[in-house]
Amino acid sequence: MAQPSLEELVALRWSRRDVLKFGAVSSLTSLLGLSQTACTTMAGDAGATSGLGFKSVPISSADTVVVPEGYTSRLFFAWGDPISDGPSFKPDASNSAADQAVQAGMHHDGMHFFSLPPGSNNPDHGLLVVNHEYLDQRLLYPDGMLTWTAEKLRKAQNAVGCTVIEIKHEAGQWKVVRPSKYARRITSRTPISIGGPARGSALMRTAADPAGVEVLGTHSNCANGFTPWGTYLTCEENFHSHFAQPVGKPDGRQARYRVWPRSGYRWHEFDERFNIDKHPNEFNRFGWIVEIDPYDPMSKPVKRTALGRCAHESAFHTLSPDGRVVIYTGDDARFEYIYKFVSRDAYNPKDRAANRDLLDHGTLYAGKFHADGSGTWLPLVHGQQGLTVANGFVDQADVLVHVKLAGEQVGATKMDRPEWIVIHPKSGEVYAALTNNSQRGTVDNPGKDAANPRNKNVFGQIMRWREAGNDAAATSFSWDLFVIAGDPTHPDPAQRGNVKGDAFACPDTLRFSPDGTLWIGTDIGIPGRGDYANLGNNQLLAVDSVTGQIRRFLTGPRGCEITGLTFTPDGKTAFLNIQHPGEFSEDRQADPISNWPSGLTGARPRSATIVITKDDGGVIGT
Ligand code: FEO
Ligand code: CA
Ligand code: CA
Ligand code: CA
Repeated sequence: MAQPSLEELVALRWSRRDVLKFGAVSSLTSLLGLSQTACTTMAGDAGATSGLGFKSVPISSADTVVVPEGYTSRLFFAWGDPISDGPSFKPDASNSAADQAVQAGMHHDGMHFFSLPPGSNNPDHGLLVVNHEYLDQRLLYPDGMLTWTAEKLRKAQNAVGCTVIEIKHEAGQWKVVRPSKYARRITSRTPISIGGPARGSALMRTAADPAGVEVLGTHSNCANGFTPWGTYLTCEENFHSHFAQPVGKPDGRQARYRVWPRSGYRWHEFDERFNIDKHPNEFNRFGWIVEIDPYDPMSKPVKRTALGRCAHESAFHTLSPDGRVVIYTGDDARFEYIYKFVSRDAYNPKDRAANRDLLDHGTLYAGKFHADGSGTWLPLVHGQQGLTVANGFVDQADVLVHVKLAGEQVGATKMDRPEWIVIHPKSGEVYAALTNNSQRGTVDNPGKDAANPRNKNVFGQIMRWREAGNDAAATSFSWDLFVIAGDPTHPDPAQRGNVKGDAFACPDTLRFSPDGTLWIGTDIGIPGRGDYANLGNNQLLAVDSVTGQIRRFLTGPRGCEITGLTFTPDGKTAFLNIQHPGEFSEDRQADPISNWPSGLTGARPRSATIVITKDDGGVIGT
């Protein structure tokens, strides 16, 4: 059958608006958007009427953070800053491994604000939990990677994982509370329990842990989620990059998890559990969603294996009408899947401890997005739909450890790299960022389909769905494409997209602020070059929930990604992460494209959390 054109697919999606009942105003403007590519502006849409109260900022190639008039952004918490009253950051990167264990890790990513006291909605005092996604070892040591030692490995292992800091708004300024009894680093050495169906499985047992119940550490923590009972969910994404298999060859199932003969991080040279030849099952103990209780610094985190093992991106939740917890997550790799977990038991709002192991029992589904705009959640349950011994799945633990293969077996839709998946706080609609997929439609790869409507998709799209009967636990849904990103001046019409408002590419972070405004953080791999030449540095945009107009709120420094957005419960403070400023400098020491945040010649760029407030004390975005 001939592939429908992009325009036909979009028209099909939007013609179903009355069925989806996303609202007449939205429907009309969205339909208009199909022919309004010319409305897209590179410099901003400041003239448009909007519920958004700020004037959009232009694209930027400057090495700084730019926010709209009437807003202020401040540096808040950078790599190497002490989490409590420990040692300060040394600009020459000479801090020891022990120092790094009580300082902010590298490459801040997903993040969430938890109010203090627990259970309150206090907007002025709380805990900020921050993921540290990966390492740039050229920056981590004074001499970069010219030498490689066990001490350097220990510093690297202390620079990943998560941070908990206590923060307070006092005299008009946010500050980190030092010392704090809550301050905590969770690193690649922290003991973590294994929970759920894979706990104790033969696939999880290692020489160091013959029972398969505890693993040391978490790393590759990309995006995140949280639970109604006040715990944090951190997602292990590109965990494969820390492992190496120098001698042997992976079997087909392990190869799907991207086993490499070498690892640029070189961890396996001084910590043999990262050598797959020696400890093949250690590899199975990463790629999970990990639950952390930030309110109890002595608590032991738990890897929740019921949510499957893949390159997890985010883990945002909602509740079904009968109180079960529903978590959406995606596997950020080309042609991988979107998943939904539905807990077996209901959330108990009256007894926090009763929810402790709620995420260990439930059903995981993979998403099938049909061309007619309907969708099906396919259960990944051993014994069903070909997930059988005959097809290589020995039990439910095997299904979860190899969930990529389970998704393949049941025929889920191969997506364009799912990143953040978030839920509208009022309507319950789910929005998913599909960041890009340059391999779509190339030789030996799947071509475009209804949900992934563009071959050589370098700009990405945001899709959304509504569960049948507005029941988040339903097994069917209706979906459409919310926006197809692009450059309206691109020579290839298919790459121009249908953005109403300010152009952008590669949506990654999505987050709703408490008032229902959708925010988009972008992650163009190499900004300002090639297909992205007209889009400048990575940016944060806001979507007017009435008109669907997209407006650029912030531009980041050179080479960075914009991620980790979180808000205080009153919506008056935003915390945002500037990740990997200066990435893709030809030579980060001799010719850096960024020295943000210090701005000093020769200084190392540092990933950091910034705090954004409105000068009149109002809600961000209004
Ligand atoms: Fe770490 Fe998929 O971004
Ligand atoms: Ca990232
Ligand atoms: Ca991401
Ligand atoms: Ca990304």
